[in-house]
Amino acid sequence: MRVIITDSYDQLGKQAAQLISDSINEKPKLVLGLATGSTPLGTYKSLIELHQKQQVSFKQVRTFNLDEYLGLGPDHPSSYHYYMYNNLFNQIDINPDNVRIPKGLSEDLDTECADYEKEIKGVGGIDLQILGIGVNGHIGFNEPQTPFGSRTRVVDLAQETIEANARFFDNRADVPRQAISMGIRSIMHARRIVLLANGASKAWAIERSLQGPVTEDVPASVLQLHPDVTVVLDREAAASLTL
Ligand code: GLP
Repeated sequence: MRVIITDSYDQLGKQAAQLISDSINEKPKLVLGLATGSTPLGTYKSLIELHQKQQVSFKQVRTFNLDEYLGLGPDHPSSYHYYMYNNLFNQIDINPDNVRIPKGLSEDLDTECADYEKEIKGVGGIDLQILGIGVNGHIGFNEPQTPFGSRTRVVDLAQETIEANARFFDNRADVPRQAISMGIRSIMHARRIVLLANGASKAWAIERSLQGPVTEDVPASVLQLHPDVTVVLDREAAASLTL
């Protein structure tokens, strides 16, 4: 595991964006796994800047998002679909046919989840997976106790996740209680993983995930078993690490 500690959130975003851009320039048909939440916003902003400076093109890139709230459609401003178009896709040259986000309004969720896995396999698997981390160590919406063998499926959100994500909704009561999420196993199949975290609220989860035991109590601790993980942090998120 490679750990990069940056001086600021701005630097974190720039470093992560450079890493993604380098991977795309090396392999223009990169299959990119994407995350949502506040953490990758700076990274997406920097990627847009790199694109505007013509240093990277997304024309042939394919993307798969980690998760989506159940019951929210693409036009709902708190859906991850809306987030991705608003914060990244509308400002780069990606082909919308190459974008895949779980369908939160699907009427046949079993088929949707199975299709998601098949589609990832169909394009040869994810080359580079971007991850954020929850305050409880979750990745995607894989909450503590999620089996490491899990695949894309419908999940229940932990109470702390509902609380943490309430800021993206008008009312706490509006936060969906369920989501579709890629599983731990689906994530671990990515060839390379880049985990991002900033702020003091993530220090516990980062310390447990990087230096604690590998346990389903802390989903991101599974990353210790992956051969190619880069962790990009700011100083606050890195504060509890023993270096
Ligand atoms: C959400 C998402 C995760 C994200 C995490 C952290 O629940 N499902 O993919 O990594 O929470 O979010 P944030 O970056 O806003 O702290």
